[in-house]
Amino acid sequence: MVASSSEFQDFVDEVIEKNDIVEVISQYTTLKRVGNRYQALCPLHNDKKTPSFSVSPDKQLFHCFGCGAGGTVIHFIMQKENLDFMDALRMLADRVRIPFPEKRSVSERTAQSVNNNKRHTIYEINKEAALFFHHNLKSLENKSVLEYLNRRNVSASTIKSFGMGYASPKGDDLINHLKSLGYRDEQICEAGLSVKREKGGYYDKFRDRLIFPIIDVRGNVIAFGGRIIADKENAPKYLNSPDTPAYKKSEHLFAMNIAKNFCSGGILLMEGYMDVVSLHQSGFRNAVASLGTALTEQQARLIKRYTKKAVLCYDSDDPGRKAAIRAGDILYNVGVKVSVLTVTNGKDPDEFINKRGAEAFKMLIDESKGLIEYKISEIEREYNLENPEQKLEFIERAAEIFAFVENEVERELYIKRFAVRLDITSGSVMSVVDNIRRKQMKISSEREKRNERMNYERRTGGRRDLKFMKVFNAEKLLLSLMCDKNAFMAIKNEISPEDFSDELHIRLAKKIYNIYEEKGLISISEVLSEFEDGSEIGRISEILSDDKNVEDKRMAAKRPLEIIKQYKRQCEEKIAIQEGDLDKLQKITEELKRIKKGKGGSHNV
Ligand code: UTP
Ligand code: MN
Repeated sequence: MVASSSEFQDFVDEVIEKNDIVEVISQYTTLKRVGNRYQALCPLHNDKKTPSFSVSPDKQLFHCFGCGAGGTVIHFIMQKENLDFMDALRMLADRVRIPFPEKRSVSERTAQSVNNNKRHTIYEINKEAALFFHHNLKSLENKSVLEYLNRRNVSASTIKSFGMGYASPKGDDLINHLKSLGYRDEQICEAGLSVKREKGGYYDKFRDRLIFPIIDVRGNVIAFGGRIIADKENAPKYLNSPDTPAYKKSEHLFAMNIAKNFCSGGILLMEGYMDVVSLHQSGFRNAVASLGTALTEQQARLIKRYTKKAVLCYDSDDPGRKAAIRAGDILYNVGVKVSVLTVTNGKDPDEFINKRGAEAFKMLIDESKGLIEYKISEIEREYNLENPEQKLEFIERAAEIFAFVENEVERELYIKRFAVRLDITSGSVMSVVDNIRRKQMKISSEREKRNERMNYERRTGGRRDLKFMKVFNAEKLLLSLMCDKNAFMAIKNEISPEDFSDELHIRLAKKIYNIYEEKGLISISEVLSEFEDGSEIGRISEILSDDKNVEDKRMAAKRPLEIIKQYKRQCEEKIAIQEGDLDKLQKITEELKRIKKGKGGSHNV
């Protein structure tokens, strides 16, 4: 057992070694060399101005002081690509073409395996449920659902390609079917397909609904949306699966499993399942929709993995237009170029395409406006430009929109075009915009500083007094120096893991001591393998990657050692005083003197 878990560790180390962290992260953000490390705007949080993201090529670690994330190249990919540890490992192994070790033996021996198994069970259950719903729909005694789809112009081949289905009104059909296949009530409920009754027992979540399976980009059925067929009062039009160990609605998009193969030239983002279905049926196989919520940043990043361009095709009503701008900003911020299409005839794309056809929809796409232009036209409706006061107000609001454009050249192009149209000089608009930008930058840099401080306090367990901070930082430095074997050999004679005062530092020190003892050589990924919580990994990578770039690590360890030992004695001193133990007090005072003298001595070296 031990041998194979270390085999797995070797594999992890090999993947980390062959995937240079600087090279991998460079694909997501621009790294700038500063001394012995690289700096960047953090690609994991919305880092606008101060580069709080740092990569250490020596340690092959990254850390962000803004959001607190950190770790190895694997942790980076986990967060950036929304993958679990094994999938991130697989992706990086693929990247450098290292064959993955035999599947079962690996998954059996990792901590992730329990959760992985749970997830895979849900995939299986969902797949069976999707098949069951689909067969239901096709072999229906009462044809009302098929008639409904027919009325809505959904063809048989569309039903098939989306795997659409029907959930009967009975309330235990699906449960019984899944149980006959050997699944248990708890598993079915955990997949989000049944609901527990207060009095005990379970009932089907989806009853008398048209079913849309939601499939991830790897082809797993991860969830379902269910549309009501005959509109009823008090019943929501759509029911959606809850989040489960296999599904987070904020991370996926409906039909992305298909669209990912058709969207290199751009993706069409819709509001509704039915819009997507209609668009695909009319040949627009690059249409997707979010899953019952407003677009999230994770969904925007998912899109960016496949394309750099999105056309927003939201409903043309008021909420639809507002939602389009919100989604547009999110996409723009992750680096996707956005344009907004306006449905001119009918309330949503589904209705439009059924009335007017694919050619007409293609024209809408061609006529779609760039996000900035769209935002301007949206506010322009509110003003009468013949009136000078209103015109001025309009220009000021437009300037706020231009100020949002990060790229300078792009910003200037918009402003110039705008100025010509409004018959004013572009210089005057430009200066309003610059003013806004200066203010925004000040605000955002203050906000970032505040966030950083708050994150720091959160990570270090709240505000601490200065003296404690000094000890806390000494511990961090010492732990990072311990990665150097030479320094460690000196440190381990002076101090033991229990001498650290912070709980996480103690655990980290223990792990480092253990690895040296067992292997005589340290691997940072092995140190990190002990920790699972993302914020802990963030803290540890911050510690390990920062050895202050000193040459003589053994020497550099002296001062933090003194601080830590002194603090420990002082704590003991306090206790001794409290307990009135004079003998002990005497001993401690002498020791403290010795430490202080030692400090004097080290200055002469
Ligand atoms: P729409 O009401 O526009 O749905 O809601 P639609 O897909 O166009 O459906 P039809 O044309 O009326 O049949 C847009 C999306 O909002 C979510 C669903 O994802 C839906 O597709 N939604 C809507 C819900 O999650 N719950 C609801 O009750 C309503
Ligand atoms: Mn609709």
